[in-house]
Amino acid sequence: MASDIESAPQSVATTLARIDATSPILLFDSGVGGLTVLEEVRKALPDASIIYAADTAGLPYGTKTEAQIAARVAGLLGRMTERFRPRLVCIACNTASTIALGMVREVLEVPIVGTVPAIKPAAAMTKTGVIGLLGTEATIRQAYVDRLEHEFAAGKRLLRHGAPGLVEAAEAKLRGEPVDPALIRHAAQALRMQPDGERIDTVVLACTHFPLVEAELAEAFGPGVRFVHGAQGIARQVARLTAGQEYSRQRPDRALFTGQGELPGAYAEKLAHYGLMRIERF
Ligand code: DGL
Repeated sequence: MASDIESAPQSVATTLARIDATSPILLFDSGVGGLTVLEEVRKALPDASIIYAADTAGLPYGTKTEAQIAARVAGLLGRMTERFRPRLVCIACNTASTIALGMVREVLEVPIVGTVPAIKPAAAMTKTGVIGLLGTEATIRQAYVDRLEHEFAAGKRLLRHGAPGLVEAAEAKLRGEPVDPALIRHAAQALRMQPDGERIDTVVLACTHFPLVEAELAEAFGPGVRFVHGAQGIARQVARLTAGQEYSRQRPDRALFTGQGELPGAYAEKLAHYGLMRIERF
């Protein structure tokens, strides 16, 4: 088991023969959090054609039940892979990955890279032995996280906090709205106030939305705290699983949002910054 990435067991060699050069990489999240992963995937694979899919009709995942999340993720990825024929799917969402990765792999015939909390690198980095973990409420209660803790952080202290306010803050920031400092302060204090919380020197950002507000979190935690997340490692894994494949981007990349109605105009500018020039409803 990897610490911050879960990748498909499929052999790259067996998939090489049938890859169409225009076939995209599909990145999936509940909202804009997966853009933090997209940024790293672009650096690793600048010529790859990418579809960014956000289940905005289901956002937030973190306050939903396991069954609700699994149904949305499996249903949407099934429909999306049929329609867009991606060469690889990256579930750029810790909540979706820790709950639904196994079942999605059971049914989809495409390599799938998941995102799981970066506990292993955090355990290697901490000097005090006390690690904070900020995720969604759904993620922090997963047995998957217990397993990562037992495997990689035995002998350390891992303090968890489910922080839905940070998802809200990150979404607001992407819409160009001011971030409510109370949401950030609350998340930092919730970890600091747990037993041994004052000794935290490393914080795992176990939700892909949270790196979008890392600067704000750094200020709230104060000096001496480092943050770790999986985006770079995930991008490396995507590159590894697609090594040797050809890319030909024929059209500008697009972002898909589930649900109805007008999308906030402010998104367009931000998404263009990530190379997503077309915005569509799915
Ligand atoms: N970005 C998601 C994650 O990594 C979850 C945000 C949400 O929908 O609650 O867990």
